[in-house]
Amino acid sequence: MRFDIITLFPELFAPFLASGVTRRAYASDQVAVRLWNPRDHADGNYRRVDDRPFGGGPGMVMMIEPLVRCLAAIRADRAALAEPTPAPVVLFSPIGEVLRHDGVARWAEGPGAILLCGRYEGIDQRFIDTHVDAQISLGDFVLSGGEIAALALLDAVTRLQPGVLNDAGSHQLDSFNPALDGLLDCPHYTRPEHWEPGPDQAPVPVPEVLMSGHHAHIERWRREQSLRITAQHRPELIQAARAAGRLSRSDEA
Ligand code: ADE
Repeated sequence: MRFDIITLFPELFAPFLASGVTRRAYASDQVAVRLWNPRDHADGNYRRVDDRPFGGGPGMVMMIEPLVRCLAAIRADRAALAEPTPAPVVLFSPIGEVLRHDGVARWAEGPGAILLCGRYEGIDQRFIDTHVDAQISLGDFVLSGGEIAALALLDAVTRLQPGVLNDAGSHQLDSFNPALDGLLDCPHYTRPEHWEPGPDQAPVPVPEVLMSGHHAHIERWRREQSLRITAQHRPELIQAARAAGRLSRSDEA
């Protein structure tokens, strides 16, 4: 799987790619990431990549030509490696489809993509109309650029790759995973067993069932907690699970 990232700020990616549980996947090219700066494909001494918007208004718009040349360089690099399928170009934008677990799972099964991070007020629409295959949004708010969104997609896709998480299959216990019927994850606890918040405050214990060693009781408790938290925070996920016939009689009790 390979992701090519077009960004005016490639330095934002380095610390992220070198840390955390996903680090090894990037280092080994299990998830290959290549960074491309449109400025390297811009003209003139100033290597200009943006200009004022026609019709007036605030901000700057990313120009077509550096992006077209940058994309051609990526395509040539991929062709030299005989990459089997032409990679789709994905633009991060508030216009796009909001990213959810099912979308991440689809990207995680594919061969990768070319991720385009917009900056300034936007990108010349003619480039979008002619070169962009899909648009993804992180939600109904505006970021200063697509880099954070690209990192979010990359991280979510990478942790789904085989062997990336220390515990095989642990992502199946994540919130939104179909293996959990799309519900939210249950709460987690670790040592100390009794936490002392302060001198005049009673110790706060871990839920007793988690200390029981009784596997079936623990599983039942976790399921109940998942249902409770989902009903409280995201009731529509309960409705969706019920509509899909994923809630058992004991879930409904
Ligand atoms: N770029 C600017 N705003 C964005 C958003 N909400 N999601 C993804 N990319 C963006």
